[in-house]
Amino acid sequence: MTILIETYTLANGVEIPKLGLGTWFIDDDNAAQAVRDAVEIGYRNIDTAQAYGNERSVGEGVRTAAVPRDELFVSTKLAAEIKDYDSAVAAIDGSLQKLGLDYVDLMLIHSPQPWNDFRGGDYADGNRQAWRALEDAYNAGKLRSIGVSNFEEADLENILSSGTVAPHVNQLLVHAGNTPADLLAYCEGRNILVEAYSPIAHGEILENADVVAMSKKYGVSVPQLCIRYTLQLGTVSLPKTANPEHMRSNAEVDFVISDADMDALRNLHARDYGDSSVFPVYSGK
Ligand SMILES: NC(=O)c1ccc[n+]([C@@H]2O[C@H](COP(=O)([O-])OP(=O)(O)OC[C@H]3O[C@@H](n4cnc5c(N)ncnc54)[C@H](OP(=O)(O)O)[C@@H]3O)[C@@H](O)[C@H]2O)c1
Repeated sequence: MTILIETYTLANGVEIPKLGLGTWFIDDDNAAQAVRDAVEIGYRNIDTAQAYGNERSVGEGVRTAAVPRDELFVSTKLAAEIKDYDSAVAAIDGSLQKLGLDYVDLMLIHSPQPWNDFRGGDYADGNRQAWRALEDAYNAGKLRSIGVSNFEEADLENILSSGTVAPHVNQLLVHAGNTPADLLAYCEGRNILVEAYSPIAHGEILENADVVAMSKKYGVSVPQLCIRYTLQLGTVSLPKTANPEHMRSNAEVDFVISDADMDALRNLHARDYGDSSVFPVYSGK
């Protein structure tokens, strides 16, 4: 499970573990134990968000885990609806308070638009205000790195042209079946590290016949193939599970997908998220 000790280096020199634990849908009663289990297995990167309603519990897990706080990389996200400076400042401090931590390693603007207007109106000014609040917290040492999520090129240009700190990270929907090649290349060109969220397509890819067949060829599980795929793209992979067996097997990805199979996975289109299509991020917008 060497992947657990591998890191990327962000543009500001901060190291980020390549594999992290996603915590969306792990409720506040269970997140602390999930974090402790993950850390015990060797995970050092934990991803949460104000919107997940589990920051209190994730923070408890971090504070009571078997390794010191400074060996863990903790990310959270500013709620998508917050698009003014004062509210963003208050919400950043609110996250630190809920987590019970002096600093977080990475904080992201969760989405360029509020969820009820995803890919809708013009929030350029609001995003600049939210970004200024993140920059101020970064300069004050409350956040070790800052970034964005679900940002497209124009959203990034808005921040890059007006901010004093360039985003270190863009967290995006990236999985076999949904590979935004142009946006990945754009981010790479600007030294913005991409984190792949929903690397297992929120669970929807588990039955995909093409992916099942390829995973059999490598003698691995579908989640292992999908996680490895996102890592070989050069992204951080953030699979979610509260099941320690799944955490363990998801980190057993010390195999190599051939260039031809990487191309096949890159060209695969599998964007049916079933009942989860109601969530803006899976709406195809
Ligand atoms: N920035 C954003 O807008 C955004 C949006 C979505 C997600 N995210 C982040 O990305 C993380 C991951 O995305 P996600 O939660 O949507 O989905 P995901 O990680 O793609 O898939 C999670 C699903 O896969 C299952 N699974 C995981 N490992 C498995 C294994 N080894 N065997 C069988 N099933 C397995 C999980 O079930 P079990 O729980 O039963 O293991 C769950 O149903 C989130 O938790 C969150 O941190 C960010």
